Amino acid sequence: MLALTLTSSGREPVKFAKNVPMKITKSASSQDKTSLKKLYVKSYGCQMNAYDAARMADVLAPEGFEETRHIEDADLVVLNTCHIRERASEKVFSELGLVRKVKEARASQGRETMIAVAGCVAQAEGKEIFRRNPSVDLVVGPQSYHRLPQLLAQARSQGRAIDTEFPVEDKFAHLTPASSARTRARGLSAFVTVQEGCDKFCTFCVVPYTRGAEMSRSYEQISAEVTRLVRDGVREITLLGQNVNAWHGLDANGQPAGLADLLFRLSQIEGIDRLRYTTSHPNDMNDALIAAHGHLPKLMPFLHLPVQSGSDRILAAMNRNHTVQDYIDSIAAIRAARPDIALSSDFIVGFPGETEADFQSTLALIEKIGFASTFFFKYSPRPGTPGADLTDQVPESVKADRLARLAALVEAQRHAFNESMTGRTMDVLFEKAGRHSGQIVGKSPYLQPVQVEAGADLIGTVQSVEITGCSTNSLFGRLAGPQPGSSGQNIMEECA
Ligand code: SAH
Ligand code: SF4
Ligand code: F3S
Repeated sequence: MLALTLTSSGREPVKFAKNVPMKITKSASSQDKTSLKKLYVKSYGCQMNAYDAARMADVLAPEGFEETRHIEDADLVVLNTCHIRERASEKVFSELGLVRKVKEARASQGRETMIAVAGCVAQAEGKEIFRRNPSVDLVVGPQSYHRLPQLLAQARSQGRAIDTEFPVEDKFAHLTPASSARTRARGLSAFVTVQEGCDKFCTFCVVPYTRGAEMSRSYEQISAEVTRLVRDGVREITLLGQNVNAWHGLDANGQPAGLADLLFRLSQIEGIDRLRYTTSHPNDMNDALIAAHGHLPKLMPFLHLPVQSGSDRILAAMNRNHTVQDYIDSIAAIRAARPDIALSSDFIVGFPGETEADFQSTLALIEKIGFASTFFFKYSPRPGTPGADLTDQVPESVKADRLARLAALVEAQRHAFNESMTGRTMDVLFEKAGRHSGQIVGKSPYLQPVQVEAGADLIGTVQSVEITGCSTNSLFGRLAGPQPGSSGQNIMEECA
């Protein structure tokens, strides 16, 4: 699972100046378009939060809100928060302290600023947020943000507004589609949430409480959204869900269908080059989905399949309902279907009761599978989850030591994986200009950024690229075969 801190447009986050009070200047754009109000959305946590942040901007666009990257220009600041670990959750409150200073600085110039807290902390903490930071005007949970316009009006008229219900109405049916211009500005890759919520109740996890029960969007709703995105230039779609492979709906004949069928039908939409999905649970990797990796060329050969631990004892305590061997068997089947598939996973170290022997089993599993990339976390006891009440909590120092050892192993695997790309030729979807002039950057099938010297006219196309080297985070290559207007020169010949 990717930890993101993005503005809703997917750009780099804008850092707050720490030395507030700050100087507030009226930007040229806000002077030109005085009728438009400015919206600043900052999103934390998973890709689903990034998707939600973009939808909030879409919902607010008809209300006259235009996104800004400059918080000091914002008439409305939305923090779209994550509750998964204590640090993520607490960060919101320190961030709110800074936003409050912006609000005060703007107020001294007679400019109003509304502050909204959205996302999983909003859901979990509710009105406690108002108590901890009275400058907050509005609190809205992840299932209610389609009501932002009404909630804003209520906050204006009544001083405050809160909605952390799990409404019976379908949020997705009430969302405003992105305009063509906004979709184009967001780039060639797009997220589409197809499933939300979780019924699995792993004993460490807050998601079932913050996102609610598992639900799947209908095929019709999803295909309409995907078709719109593709019409507006999107070439790569990542289907999202807390348990995306639990997606279920109806097939073209009205029969029960799973994610494999959804991927198959979406791959037939003209204009889609690439499909991905995340995040999956091992127990929902059914035969049809595994087979789809062998049958669907548009389904990219990268799978994020969290396992959390390599110890059966700990997996049982986590209520994962699968064993280490089940995971190994699933990976073997997936590799048989798609031999070049790259794998990634999530691991938690220091779950209550985890011994050194349990941890060694986790390292052994990582060695055995060989991951292209991996996310790893120190166990963070979350209020309200069964894990938090367990008495055999692991000391912080032990967690930190295990985390460092695990990090060294997965980093070595990631480097080996990137190095193994050198000399290979692969399709790259070019997405944007590079940092240096004459460079463009794209994405490999395995989710690595690839830098090539080539003309900007190739942005938006898929090209065959020979990989010539790598650094810690990127691959470098040259276009394979002659391309009009491009030097085809190497950027770098060896892995750093
Ligand atoms: N639905 C996904 C992941 C959801 S949360 C799944 O089932 O795998 C993303 C990741 O955060 C989890 O995979 C887990 O590794 C980590 N995580 C969740 N709760 C945590 C906690 N209390 N402490 C540390 N890491 C946690
Ligand atoms: Fe959390 Fe487990 Fe559900 Fe994933 S499957 S969201 S880790 S409860
Ligand atoms: Fe965080 Fe909520 Fe996603 S807790 S990881 S933002 S589902």
